[in-house]
Amino acid sequence: MRRRSGLVKSERLLTSLGPVGKPETQICPAPKDTKMTETTFTPRVFSGIQPSGGLHLGNYLGAIKRFVTMQDEVAESVYCMVDLHAITVWQDPKALQHSTRELAAGFIASGISPEKSILINQSQVPEHAQLGWIFNCVARMGWMQRMTQFKDKAGKNSQAASLGLFAYPALMAADILVYHATHVPVGEDQKQHLELTRDIAAKFNHDYGVDFFPMTEPVIEGAATRVMSLRDGTKKMSKSDPSDASRINMTDDADSIAKKIRKAKSDADALPSEAKGLEDRPDARNLINIYAALADMTVDQVLADVGGKQFGEFKPMLSDLAVAKLSPISTEMARLMSDPAEIDRVLAKGALQAREITAPILQKTYDIVGMVRPAI
Ligand code: TYM
Repeated sequence: MRRRSGLVKSERLLTSLGPVGKPETQICPAPKDTKMTETTFTPRVFSGIQPSGGLHLGNYLGAIKRFVTMQDEVAESVYCMVDLHAITVWQDPKALQHSTRELAAGFIASGISPEKSILINQSQVPEHAQLGWIFNCVARMGWMQRMTQFKDKAGKNSQAASLGLFAYPALMAADILVYHATHVPVGEDQKQHLELTRDIAAKFNHDYGVDFFPMTEPVIEGAATRVMSLRDGTKKMSKSDPSDASRINMTDDADSIAKKIRKAKSDADALPSEAKGLEDRPDARNLINIYAALADMTVDQVLADVGGKQFGEFKPMLSDLAVAKLSPISTEMARLMSDPAEIDRVLAKGALQAREITAPILQKTYDIVGMVRPAI
């Protein structure tokens, strides 16, 4: 088989999103003689969110808000409810159906247009799981054992965790690479998985002597790539936190949002006028980051306005801003959820569009790997 070498060239078509290059940290570098690919890949965005429980402000600011802008910057974008990922931990079947539709409603209500983007539910596009199996055979045990998300989620009793939870990052790599996606917008917590995605692509290309899968570029940008808990500014805001007061849910009403922000952990000092003054003040930094991300401002711009104020004055400002930005989304989500059949139609259409991309890529992968396929 012919081997080619060179660099992924998708960056030339997508300069506004930054260069496609090596990630800062390689979890397990690709084999030494692997060169990056010479193929020019069409810029394509892919990202996904688990429908396990509701959407929260971290998902919105760290991911969805960026999805919305990227659908106008890039010709093709695919956004996915990753239900197969969700069942790596127990999900009540009825609740999973509800959360999947609610997540779809959250995407649409936040501004993702099914006319501009392809919106799908992962299990309706079987090529994700099919390529996931191939990648289970490419990824190494040692790579997976280093995944911090597995360690966090499995906890002390990792022997009782599902095999799916362990293999999760190989399926995530398949989600991305079955579209030959070049750019993946995510929050900071997904960085390690995206580095693994590049390692899987590099190893596949190397082992089979092809330039088939692109070196996908993570897009981790903005003031809120890591939104922290409202109760503890050193812990990530998460749907698994037992305290509902630790997060703002996208379905919270104005009163709950205001109450959670009023009670959010802060400190007794006045706000600084420059970002440097937020060092060692994780709770203050978190609230300022949230304000900046909601207002589409930089942290320095926010501090230029609010420096010198006490939290007693700043929190109502944050609360008004959060309610103004989030209430229209939760209202629209509720409206969309009143017609679940329409959501199902959007997802069915998305799956058909998606499979036009994924079926040929999977078939080519099977050819490369040496699967005998029926003659037509
Ligand atoms: P998930 O469902 O945990 O989170 C969805 C997205 O929200 C971001 N996020 C946050 N961003 C900032 N601050 C926070 N506190 C915060 N919490 C969550 C996540 O970084 C993510 O972008 N493995 C993924 C889902 C996935 C996926 C994919 C993502 C499956 N396949 C392919 C991208 C591409 C996950 O569990 O995300």
